Amino acid sequence: MIIIENLRKTYNHKSKIAVDGISFSVNNGEILGLVGLNGAGKTTTINASCGVILPSGGRILIDDMEIVEEKAKASQEIGWVSENPNFEPNTKAIHLMLYYAGFYKIPRKEAFNRSMDLLRTVGLEEDAYRPASAYSQGMKKRFALASAMISNPRNLLLDEILNGLDPSGINLIKKLILEWKKQGKAILLSTHLLGVLENLADRVIIMHHGKIIKTLTNDEMKSLGSTGIRIRADHVDKSLEMLLSKYGTVRIDGQNVIVNGDLNEKDMENISSDISSHGYRISHLDLEKKSLEEYFLTLIGEAL
Ligand SMILES: Nc1ncnc2c1ncn2[C@@H]1O[C@H](COP(=O)(O)OP(=O)(O)OP(=O)(O)O)[C@@H](O)[C@H]1O
Ligand SMILES: [Mg+2]
Repeated sequence: MIIIENLRKTYNHKSKIAVDGISFSVNNGEILGLVGLNGAGKTTTINASCGVILPSGGRILIDDMEIVEEKAKASQEIGWVSENPNFEPNTKAIHLMLYYAGFYKIPRKEAFNRSMDLLRTVGLEEDAYRPASAYSQGMKKRFALASAMISNPRNLLLDEILNGLDPSGINLIKKLILEWKKQGKAILLSTHLLGVLENLADRVIIMHHGKIIKTLTNDEMKSLGSTGIRIRADHVDKSLEMLLSKYGTVRIDGQNVIVNGDLNEKDMENISSDISSHGYRISHLDLEKKSLEEYFLTLIGEAL
């Protein structure tokens, strides 16, 4: 479990406030997405949480261990993937994994087996004997994730883990993260893309200028995406328009009727049975999704 209490971080002799007194926690078995524009303070939050930068104020607990005071113990339970992982040139991936394993005093044979398992898990088994520094950007992210898991830590801090990956890489990492959630790990991941978290994160925190401007549950995220329903019936007339007006604002678009409002899947079912019972035959019924990115930008516009 990760607890962040009133975290504050300033740079440049306090003139730059990167994180401005934020508090939240990531429970065991929870995936929390940290979203924000470039410079919002995501990396600063993650780096302070894993102890590679010192907070200017507030405190961070990793499984009840204070990250600054009890760094050695707390570090054992953190798996961190940095924003731009890079590796020593000419050092083979498997040898780096064995080196990391040394920090946790994992015996050599077990370290080798575990390393190969992890490389296989992230799709890099065949590249184990290549230098990680020569990997592509997406491969580096996957390798960084494998190395972060060498000690099987209970808390994961993943900075932009899904960026730079191709669609199959994104799917693979999403599956792994969901598997680790099932094992009860607390997972914090940052991205500047809200949409990628829709089928992944239990909650999302939106940061802007170092502050939390919104927290959303997964249900809230899903309902945000849907704002209207598009219907195509065998015929469109005034009485259909009347009938639908109780659900929201009705607009006719050729053969389609669009009902706008804060509508969800349940409304879709109700509308469907309502119009069928009035004798209309529906050939098409769809939720019109307003993209999460649109919502995100509107929210940030309001914050400004
Ligand atoms: N070492 C530093 N010295 C001075 N300012 C810094 C330093 N690191 C970060 N900042 C500033 O702190 C703010 C937050 O940066 P941070 O890297 O945490 O943002 P971010 O949300 O991770 O952005 P991105 O999406 O671009 O990765 C930015 O204004 C950044 O310029
Ligand atoms: Mg960042």
